[in-house]
Amino acid sequence: MTFSNTLIYWYLQNNRDLPWRKSRNPYFIWLSEIMLQQTRVAQGLSYYLKFTDTFPTVFDLAKADESTVLKMWQGLGYYSRARNLHFSAKQIANELNGEFPSTYKEIIKLKGIGDYTASAIASICFNEPTAVVDGNVYRVLSRYYGIKTPINSSAGIKEFKALAQTLIDESQPGTFNQAIMDFGALHCKPQNPLCDSCPFSGSCMALEKKLTNELPVKEKKIKVRKRYFNFLVIKTDDNKTILSERKGKGIWQGLFQFPLIESNKNINKNELVSSEEFIDLFPAETTISLFNEKEIVHKLSHQHLYTQFWIIETKKLNKATIKWTEIEKHPVPILIANFLETFLTKK
Ligand code: ADE
Repeated sequence: MTFSNTLIYWYLQNNRDLPWRKSRNPYFIWLSEIMLQQTRVAQGLSYYLKFTDTFPTVFDLAKADESTVLKMWQGLGYYSRARNLHFSAKQIANELNGEFPSTYKEIIKLKGIGDYTASAIASICFNEPTAVVDGNVYRVLSRYYGIKTPINSSAGIKEFKALAQTLIDESQPGTFNQAIMDFGALHCKPQNPLCDSCPFSGSCMALEKKLTNELPVKEKKIKVRKRYFNFLVIKTDDNKTILSERKGKGIWQGLFQFPLIESNKNINKNELVSSEEFIDLFPAETTISLFNEKEIVHKLSHQHLYTQFWIIETKKLNKATIKWTEIEKHPVPILIANFLETFLTKK
């Protein structure tokens, strides 16, 4: 049997009896699919019943006050879902005569509808073979095919969508989509999947290779730290500057840089000159200008450096020992090398 036939055979015997499954009305399917995002079926069910009871048609939802809609949503969380739902209901009622768009391409244009919801509605209500990919689908497919591509990477998102699209039963796409989601939710569960009684046990790659608990793979998103760098590009009367070697560990270890004042946001000239570090360096009079009006953002894997280069003209300074004519002999981070290239050609 094909993947799709095995799956649908399982679904016919095991599907959940859910109220929206009794209908192909896109308004009901839309409501249920939006409610079930980030929400378990058991929790979403009572909200679905309350909503469809209060707003039996898209016109009723469109006519309601936003505060009434939000009040009814209370407890489901992610309130932008409710606001978008209400916004799109008004659009459907007022601009489309209450007629729900009937193709994936048109459905996805509605506010609050992404690839998942558009695929679900297009397939369940209009028989368009567009595959849904939700957390359940990622789990089922990554395990069955032994795919290790992280499901939250852009490569993974593309790969799983394309794979699901090749598997979908074109004669009953809505049933296929709901079957794979139910199979993931009830059988191929995140923890303790029911492999002993699985209809795919003869051909599941994860089961064969003992990878069930390792799949799907999720990439850890690293938190990017924002830092604000102010480099002081000094030009003394005798054409010298300060450049010092970065000590300690780090990616710039051993490279040279201009004196650096780190701040907790982008600062202006007044804030710069009143900082203690600045006063320590320049007790005497200076002329200051900001070289780059717009901050330069240098992106490293764990940090984004918002950088301003300040040009500081001053009289002779004992600490300024590097001749401008020899500055290019020093190894510097690429951020400073790029600055120097523009600065030196502009002069
Ligand atoms: N989760 C969200 N929508 C679903 C659907 N239509 N069938 C099964 N699980 C779902």
